[in-house]
Amino acid sequence: MMKILLLLLVALDMIERRVEVVARLKALEEAATPLVAFLQNASAVQELRADKQYNLQMLHDRYQIGPEQIEALYQYAKFQFECGNYSGAADYLYQYRALCTNSERSLSALWGKMAAEVLMQNWDIALEELNRLKEIIDSKSFSTPLNQIQSRIWLMHWSLFIFFNNENGRTQIIDLFNQDKYLNAIQTNAPHLLRYLATAFIVNKRRRPQFKDFIKVIQQEQHSYKDPITEFLACVYVNYDFDEAQKKMKECEEVILNDPFLGKHLEDSNFSTVPLRDEFLENARLFVFETYCRIHQRIDMEVLAEKLNLNYEEAERWIVNLIRNSKLDAKIDSQSGTVIMEPNHSNVYEQLIDHTKALSGRTSKLVSQILEHAQAQSAR
Ligand SMILES: *[C@@H]1O[C@H](CO)[C@@H](O)[C@H](O)[C@H]1NC(C)=O
Ligand SMILES: *[C@@H]1O[C@H](CO)[C@@H](O)[C@H](O)[C@H]1NC(C)=O
Ligand SMILES: *[C@@H]1O[C@H](CO)[C@@H](O)[C@H](O)[C@H]1NC(C)=O
Ligand SMILES: *[C@@H]1O[C@H](CO)[C@@H](O)[C@H](O)[C@H]1NC(C)=O
Repeated sequence: MMKILLLLLVALDMIERRVEVVARLKALEEAATPLVAFLQNASAVQELRADKQYNLQMLHDRYQIGPEQIEALYQYAKFQFECGNYSGAADYLYQYRALCTNSERSLSALWGKMAAEVLMQNWDIALEELNRLKEIIDSKSFSTPLNQIQSRIWLMHWSLFIFFNNENGRTQIIDLFNQDKYLNAIQTNAPHLLRYLATAFIVNKRRRPQFKDFIKVIQQEQHSYKDPITEFLACVYVNYDFDEAQKKMKECEEVILNDPFLGKHLEDSNFSTVPLRDEFLENARLFVFETYCRIHQRIDMEVLAEKLNLNYEEAERWIVNLIRNSKLDAKIDSQSGTVIMEPNHSNVYEQLIDHTKALSGRTSKLVSQILEHAQAQSAR
């Protein structure tokens, strides 16, 4: 009996709320109608020009549309957004911005427009809005520096949706996050974003000149933030701890699969043939290999295989091909199962590393081909 009463009360409450929402929608719709009717009339819209002042005057003189009706359009758009009608919201917010004279309001409409595009998964348009927002945030004056930092952090969080759904996003995320002002905001208030920047650096085909400085940031921030991905970089580039790096590589795989942005590609990507996880692991191996070669003269194949998270045959093929293709001056002694670097090893390693840097695009493609090949062969 109590339960039924409770349910009835809940139902009544919901009906009441629905009535409220519908009433609000009606009121907003009414207030916005003059402007919406104008905007829906194609021949009327033709009267608009590129000049905002002219348009406002024209709307006022010919259609009796003033600031009140324009404000109503904003409220109506906001309401559409809250009801989940993102296409309606995006259209109205776009039109609102064309008529709005208040820069704060216009900025908030732009945030809404970008969010609506993200929620509709219109990634290209969302990226354009993101860039518009960035330009405004970087140039406008804020009441306090912290407000500006907050805005940048919001922007970066939204950008994750866009970048990890965009073909060039893994490069673009570095361009945005690694800018001084944005990296500063991350270090100040959002160190968890380092994961995405670190991943982007690792999967990027072209090793970035900023990479060295980024390692320093990882090192600095170790106390405020770390996860397997940033720890992996610290193992390879700060501590030279390859056993730990290998453990971290396995953990990284878990992290990527469970991360809402990084793991996403596995199910529903149409543009990236290589899932981010695979690309990450291939490049991570290359990182380990490069650094390991830099500090060893004689490398036990078995140990190397372990460091690369490959089985012995895969590792051997990988190394043979890498040596052959980058003309690395090294030999494989099959009997003892070691890779022996030639006497001029330091030169050779530097060469290899420079070579790998310069040709890293080609090299990582090569490495992935080698690995695919190796896997295909070992599957036989
Ligand atoms: C559309 O606008 C034109 C020009 O302002 C006007 O003549 C026409 O009546 C309008 N059409 C509708 C359906 O309101
Ligand atoms: C969404 O908004 C547009 C523009 O106002 C409107 O035409 C459409 O009917 C709305 N859709 C829903 C489901 O309310
Ligand atoms: C991927 O492409 C296929 C075929 O072109 C299409 O049916 C599918 O909806 C697309 N998936 C996504 C997530 O875009
Ligand atoms: C090592 O390199 C130097 C200069 O690059 C060269 O002069 C020397 O002959 C090399 N030594 C060997 C053993 O190849």
